Amino acid sequence: MLEVRGLALGYGDQPVLEGVDLRVGEGEFVGLVGPSGSGKSTLLRAIAGLLKPLKGEILRGFGERELGFLFQEDALLPWRTARENAALGLRIRGYGKKEALEEAEFWLVRLGLRGLGDRYPHELSGGQRKRVALAQVLALRPKLLLMDEPFASLDAILRTEVTRDLLRLVEGEGIAVLLVTHDLEEAIALADRIYLLSKGPRARVAKAYRVPFPRPRDPVAVRAEPRFGALLKELWQDLEEVVLCAAP
Ligand SMILES: Nc1ncnc2c1ncn2[C@@H]1O[C@H](COP(=O)(O)OP(=O)(O)O)[C@@H](O)[C@H]1O
Ligand SMILES: [Mg+2]
Repeated sequence: MLEVRGLALGYGDQPVLEGVDLRVGEGEFVGLVGPSGSGKSTLLRAIAGLLKPLKGEILRGFGERELGFLFQEDALLPWRTARENAALGLRIRGYGKKEALEEAEFWLVRLGLRGLGDRYPHELSGGQRKRVALAQVLALRPKLLLMDEPFASLDAILRTEVTRDLLRLVEGEGIAVLLVTHDLEEAIALADRIYLLSKGPRARVAKAYRVPFPRPRDPVAVRAEPRFGALLKELWQDLEEVVLCAAP
């Protein structure tokens, strides 16, 4: 689905990432964690084609239209209803209004927002707005979904609920995901594999982890497993090491 080889990225003459190798298999959920400023967002931008590699290559096993992107900030238009917002991507892709709104409603319902389609963003809770944003991107039927700390603004309980529903949908649809998160527990609960980036400048993949829980998976129940705690401890230790052993 996605293969990144020997990738170097930077802004002007300022290096950010160097020698980054990673892959995301078909339908695979991959977590990306690392110190703040290590270049996680930069890497996602490059994968989305918004930033040109200085070195290396990004091999995409999907079409331009099969890539979905979800950012931290709500991208909803305040003057459009939830349904209209959810239909926005489809409208941009040339769907007729009626068809786009019907498809949008279908995804709102799948995200637990039945009956809320006529509300405006300010009439929705933070968790509901996040669900509308998810409906908007899932309605485009992506093969690969890139997410950059999309749930950072939600409290722990809402976050758990939204990510559980997201997981159910991407598992059902076979959508591959690359999720940037600063929440190590979230990464373990959701992902099949996790990459840890080292501290920049010239950050690279410091370590890769396999998450030992099968699919379909209950991301809440796995948190009680001893292997969850063991992997969390390992990740914390490695992250601490990466932060302390910073490149000069
Ligand atoms: N548009 C930009 N122009 C110049 N430097 C940038 C830009 N965006 C990010 N950076 C720098 O690149 C580095 C990596 O940033 P970023 O990818 O946002 O890290 P992360 O998402 O891991 O916190 C940081 O040092 C940051 O200051
Ligand atoms: Mg970032």
